[in-house]
Amino acid sequence: MRPRVVVYKDLPPAQRARLAERFDLTCFDGIDDANRAAFYAALADAEGMIGASLKVDAPLLARAPKLRAAATISVGFDTFDLDTLRARGIPLCHTPGVLTDTVADLVLALMLAAARRVVELNAMMKAGRWTESVGEEWFGVDVHHRTLGLVGMGRIGQAVARRAHHGFGMDVIYHNTRPVPEADAAFGARHLPLDTVLAEADFVVVLLPLRPGNVRIIDAAKFARMKRSAIFINAARGKVVDEAAMIAALSDGTIRAAGLDVFETEPLPPESPLLALPNVVAVPHVGSATAATRDAMAALAVDGLIDALEGRRPTHLADPEVWA
Ligand code: DGY
Repeated sequence: MRPRVVVYKDLPPAQRARLAERFDLTCFDGIDDANRAAFYAALADAEGMIGASLKVDAPLLARAPKLRAAATISVGFDTFDLDTLRARGIPLCHTPGVLTDTVADLVLALMLAAARRVVELNAMMKAGRWTESVGEEWFGVDVHHRTLGLVGMGRIGQAVARRAHHGFGMDVIYHNTRPVPEADAAFGARHLPLDTVLAEADFVVVLLPLRPGNVRIIDAAKFARMKRSAIFINAARGKVVDEAAMIAALSDGTIRAAGLDVFETEPLPPESPLLALPNVVAVPHVGSATAATRDAMAALAVDGLIDALEGRRPTHLADPEVWA
């Protein structure tokens, strides 16, 4: 009998076909109350699972006693219980690399939109309120030749630094678990203590993975370290920031503005104060959301799942020790 695989997020047809050639598929386009029972029933026989944006915790994994491999169509894997996966020897494949430039592009878009007030000005114009040459009350601030402070200097951080330094002449400072000499050489970047980065940056960009030590790492005290003119960008995970502290900082002028792709709760509840703040540019977790990149991510996740289920070591493992 062919292995059974549960697909819990719609895949591009070509990727679904690659799986269907080898495995018996049960497919869902996202899991909700209407299909949850069918999803649980499918997990009971599943040897593989693939999808995105689902909390895969110990109770869920307990519903999949035959599971041998999982793949997530994302670089982040914070929604998975890695301890349980490791204890059961289940490899989790993810999709680093193929989304790096796409996410970096969105970071620049958020920086530019927040600094130049693109969204506010667009709303003003579309409301028919452009009746005379705009005055100072609508002016923005420059991005070029300002200081970019990166919290996290991984692949995406380096792609943002490249754009900022070579494209906008920005000075790049950063804090990371370790200095990154290649970034220092390529972008003149300087590795500094976190508080110094926060205090000196005109743009503070958080690009940290969500790990236990990073939860709410940017809290009220960290916002207080930033310049009052600082623009804060989060394209990592909502939970690395204390969202209530961020809302307070944006409301009382502790910082100037924010560009946000990620939130503590997603989808962001419509009553969130963030949606009422004019100095917030918010987009719904779309860092990697271009057709080409999402296709590439799906292909990479499918590659990983096929490799794992057919006994080959997948190239991108969330927890490499599982396939030592
Ligand atoms: C990722 O890949 O982790 C992104 O956040 C999903 O778009």
